[in-house]
Amino acid sequence: MADIKQFVSNLQDFLEYKKEEGFQTLEVSSETLAALKPAPAQKPAPAQKPVVRSSAPRSAPSAAQTPQSSVRVTGKTLEAIAGQVRVCSACPLQASRKNTVPGEGNPNRPDIMFVGEGPGADEDIQGRPFVGAAGQLLDKMIEAMGYKREDVFIANIVKCRPPGNRVPLPEEMNACIPYLKAQIALIKPKIIVALGKTAVQGLLQEDVAITKFRGTWCKYEGIDLMPTYHPSFLLRSPSHKGESWADLKAVLARLGKEPPAKKV
Ligand code: URA
Repeated sequence: MADIKQFVSNLQDFLEYKKEEGFQTLEVSSETLAALKPAPAQKPAPAQKPVVRSSAPRSAPSAAQTPQSSVRVTGKTLEAIAGQVRVCSACPLQASRKNTVPGEGNPNRPDIMFVGEGPGADEDIQGRPFVGAAGQLLDKMIEAMGYKREDVFIANIVKCRPPGNRVPLPEEMNACIPYLKAQIALIKPKIIVALGKTAVQGLLQEDVAITKFRGTWCKYEGIDLMPTYHPSFLLRSPSHKGESWADLKAVLARLGKEPPAKKV
């Protein structure tokens, strides 16, 4: 069962990506089109429960709307937090995980902390973030910036794999976010790079179209935050790599650095 708000928001992003990729049309079956067509306004509504329509602007559930996470992070070190994550049962993702993926990297005020969405199949097996295909691209991005993977910290919004790599549900994100918050408070990165819409949504509680929002400096708890595309999206749509590189160069510039000369 899909969460409608999340589904609509993802669909919107998908359509925006397609538009930016230059698609003028999409192949949609006549059955789907018919199902999407709203019923004519004049038709008397069938006797059923009233439909409540919200006129509220599109946004991630605010702290007031979402239930408080049951997680209270007691660990005062990254290892202690990882230990708490390992036995966490705050959301249903614990039932299908093989391993938790708390995150890894330089814990001592690194220049950059990358935040992704959640573990995929490879990460679930290894218990480490970004070790699959998207991770290989992230490694290349990190190297192109002049860093090694161990120079930065890499974590995710949710610490357990959503089944089938689906987008984590708002309640799963909300349940898990105290861990990431506690990690950021300990690590104190100079800059956070939010990889994709879910990372922005989890950290800033804002439901944005990443195509429009990327490249815009934001703040998370006083830390500069740069939203950019998720590497998985870049693997599907390599034509957007240039925009991502522009975002990463802006990160370097803010750190007073330049990308290293390309090796020939
Ligand atoms: N995608 C993510 O968002 N995080 C990972 O760790 C791997 C893939």
